[in-house]
Amino acid sequence: MTPLPALPAAVERPGPATRVVAALSARGLKRRYQIDGRPVDALAGVDIEVQPGESVAIVGKSGAGKSTLLNLIGALDRGYEGELRVFGRELRTLSDAELARFRNQQIGFVFQAFHLLPQLSVGRNVMLPAAFGGGLTDGEVETRARALLAELGLSDRFDQNPAQMSGGERQRVAIARALLLEPPLLVCDEPTGSLDAETGRQILAVLADVRARRGTTLLLVTHDPAVARSADRTITLAGGRSAAGEAA
Ligand SMILES: Nc1ncnc2c1ncn2[C@@H]1O[C@H](COP(=O)(O)OP(=O)(O)OP(=O)(O)O)[C@@H](O)[C@H]1O
Ligand SMILES: [Mg+2]
Repeated sequence: MTPLPALPAAVERPGPATRVVAALSARGLKRRYQIDGRPVDALAGVDIEVQPGESVAIVGKSGAGKSTLLNLIGALDRGYEGELRVFGRELRTLSDAELARFRNQQIGFVFQAFHLLPQLSVGRNVMLPAAFGGGLTDGEVETRARALLAELGLSDRFDQNPAQMSGGERQRVAIARALLLEPPLLVCDEPTGSLDAETGRQILAVLADVRARRGTTLLLVTHDPAVARSADRTITLAGGRSAAGEAA
């Protein structure tokens, strides 16, 4: 595997040894949706603590609230009750601008539905996070994007339109985009959901490599036992609540 070009000092971050706060801390976390005017508690009191550099699988049946939880952790949704701190910051207290900046600098998010921008090429999609910060030159950004795509088995796809790709290929583009700035927290919703077993192993190896080099904290929502086994531990969501342990 070709090593990725190192990030310049501007985006260097302290290693795990110098971090003192939890990467993630949720206490009594609740998320209520209104469905046809009726309240539904997608999360009904979740307690989770994840330390910097840990790798945690989040499992549970369809509808258990996994994506709802990731959307909160990924600072995409602030409509929660209870406490939710990411690297010590209570997300609800941040302004919109602070939240956008926090998300760009601290969090890489791989969506269950990928959410690539169809009007942009594969390469432009991967380079997108650098448009909002990161301190890299255009040349460095492109070099990193190309190296990541190569590492994920997508060499020569830089100029392709994502609409012309398979689900598994788009999933890997989404992973490359989340890794571009090597954020300290990587949140992945079913990162191998559209992949064959071999490509899934390749993705896990890339995630393990980033984690080893950068002390990245990994949260992986998954139905895939191989992904869950790759994590340090598993948290199960059931009925909108959390419990340590294996999936049902
Ligand atoms: N935007 C929304 N509006 C209303 N209800 C929602 C919304 N998003 C999710 N829900 C409800 O919240 C519950 C949890 O949904 P969520 O998407 O978090 O499940 P999940 O565990 O990610 O499932 P899957 O494994 O199928 O992806 C479901 O009952 C769903 O109907
Ligand atoms: Mg989901």
